[in-house]
Amino acid sequence: MTTLTTRINARPVTLRMPSFVTRRMDLHHVTRIEELMGGEHVHVWKRPGPGAVMLAGNDYLCLANEPTLIEAQIHTMQGNGGQNLMSAVYLQAGSRQHMLEEKFADFLGAEQTVLAQSGWAANVGLLQSIAGPGVPVYLDIMAHASLWDGVQLGGGKGVPFLHNNMEHLERQIHKHGAGVIVVDALYSTDGSLAPLHDVVAIAERSGSVLVVDESHSLGTHGPRGAGLVIETGLEERVHFRTASLAKAFAGRAGIITCSSRFKGYFLSESRPAIFSSCLLNHELAWFDAAIDFVEQADGRRAALRRVTDEVRTGLGRLGYCVDEGSEQIVALEVGTEPKTLVLRKALENRGIQGAVFCAPATPKNRALVRLTLNCGLSKREIARLLSACADMREEVDLENWTSTIRRRRVH
Ligand SMILES: Cc1ncc(COP(=O)(O)O)c(C=O)c1O
Repeated sequence: MTTLTTRINARPVTLRMPSFVTRRMDLHHVTRIEELMGGEHVHVWKRPGPGAVMLAGNDYLCLANEPTLIEAQIHTMQGNGGQNLMSAVYLQAGSRQHMLEEKFADFLGAEQTVLAQSGWAANVGLLQSIAGPGVPVYLDIMAHASLWDGVQLGGGKGVPFLHNNMEHLERQIHKHGAGVIVVDALYSTDGSLAPLHDVVAIAERSGSVLVVDESHSLGTHGPRGAGLVIETGLEERVHFRTASLAKAFAGRAGIITCSSRFKGYFLSESRPAIFSSCLLNHELAWFDAAIDFVEQADGRRAALRRVTDEVRTGLGRLGYCVDEGSEQIVALEVGTEPKTLVLRKALENRGIQGAVFCAPATPKNRALVRLTLNCGLSKREIARLLSACADMREEVDLENWTSTIRRRRVH
């Protein structure tokens, strides 16, 4: 196949493309979708029916429809302040973004913060800025892809270590020398927590820089929702915290904690900061109001904890291996992509929607359906989820999932 069909003025036009592109497209369309998956795409779910339980988003504290936040955004959009349609490099002292960065710094107990257009931009820009050519960067194998991308962009040497395995991390540092250690506070595929005290101790002993991605713990964990680093009292011992604000903060941005001196350097070094436009005023207004809301949201955090415990306990009793994680992200790890498709259909036929995670988001044969919980899930919705999971065990061949086999080996 060497052509691409497109439409110009509703008339299909076929352009020839060289094989270095079409070979790769064929790997997706022919080898993966047609041959491996029988023509179905793993990510394309059936439209959910009435009463379906949606467990695919990351709005953990149910902020997306919060009237005070929406009003703050509308008010800004209707104002006549205009927009800063330019790179953050050109923002001046006293700008709305700089003021919000200081408010976030107070919230996070940090000297300074810098906002980015997304969590991806924050992580890529940070890793690119601190790990130059040849610098070893030790990443937990389950650390988010954006962190690995930043290492690649900066020319650092990515050195993986086994998930949460501190002996392996120490062995790798012994072999390659001091560098940058990168972990997620709460891992995005299975809801497991990093052993932050141990990671900090290793970073200090080895003279390494430490980066902790708090995307899934900011807002949901810690006093006032300020995250796990604050909860563990480690904020003065972690060099950089990053987060996507597209999870519990329910907007579109990313953030990095840092020193004032680093911030000045970052804005002249990070390629996503320099070469892509900054956030818009109504996006800043959302986060300004969201910080106040999140700080007060202890009731929602407690509700999320209750929902998490109920779902995890229920799934465990049904024979699902969910004890590798403990938080609001629950992995149903099946193994291969075709088996994941069977699971997806079993769930959607019972009115449950999650998110399929497969390569490159997981290792090739550790594909899974991820269920993300939120504080607004009702007893009835949790019961529906657990009843679906009880009912489908044979249909999805639970006994032979990779996660089930792994647990049988351990016990
Ligand atoms: C742990 C982690 N870091 C970073 C990101 C990237 O965030 P964003 O979606 O804001 O680009 C994500 C989102 O998937 C994530 O889960």
